[in-house]
Amino acid sequence: MNTKINKILKKKNKSKILCLTAYSKNFAEEIDKYVDITLVGDSLGSVLYNYKSTKKVTLTNIIDHSKSVRLGVKKSLMVVDMPYNTYNSNKTALKNAKKIIKETKCDAVKLEGGKKIISQIRYLIKNKILVMGHLGLLPQTAKGKFKSKGRSDKEKKQLISDALLLQNNGVFAIVIECVRTSTAKEITHSLKIPTIGIGSSVFCDGQVLVTDDLLGLNNSNIRFVKRFINIKKYIKLGLRKFMSEVKLKKYPSKKYSY
Ligand code: KIV
Repeated sequence: MNTKINKILKKKNKSKILCLTAYSKNFAEEIDKYVDITLVGDSLGSVLYNYKSTKKVTLTNIIDHSKSVRLGVKKSLMVVDMPYNTYNSNKTALKNAKKIIKETKCDAVKLEGGKKIISQIRYLIKNKILVMGHLGLLPQTAKGKFKSKGRSDKEKKQLISDALLLQNNGVFAIVIECVRTSTAKEITHSLKIPTIGIGSSVFCDGQVLVTDDLLGLNNSNIRFVKRFINIKKYIKLGLRKFMSEVKLKKYPSKKYSY
């Protein structure tokens, strides 16, 4: 077993697992210092390209961004999302997962879904690919307005059964997105592997967020997003200083000239 994954598994019931998204080297370099998992999420479609849905993110998009992220990730586990339509069958899933791993040197891939994609997940794991699961709200296949999951007893049962299925087939952790508190808590308690929550309460073993959201770079009004800092204020400060010094001919001074 991968030693980074072992360290993450040992954190269950002990300390929180931290995971953040990165789409490029400079961000990855900073994020890597603090997290257990750096995720190249297909959320890059909406964050960087204004796509309405992650369905438009291609294999080339995710590979290109992951190559850049790889340059910044030194210590954390690097996980890459398999885009929509890239794991429709066992063979396609394996071919694309191998391509992602070969070209980006990532440690693992993440796929959205439970029972419906268990055959692909089993096939990847049989072929020694490390897989992270993703249950609850599944942005790649969600229709209409995003709603929280696990509210009815039926949905709760289905989610717990999917989570156990993923665990029993070898995924090392599961992202639980937008799941009602009591359901997320029960899923987490039912599993030996860690759950990584996003919009799924404090009871998950870990927490993931889109980095641009927590830094205040995105104008998202999603309920679970907390802006921990307004980084745009600092960007504005830097840009204004630059503009002013250029206009006043203070920059570039002798020190910055040849
Ligand atoms: O695409 C993504 O960034 C994700 C996380 C938000 C879990 O899947």
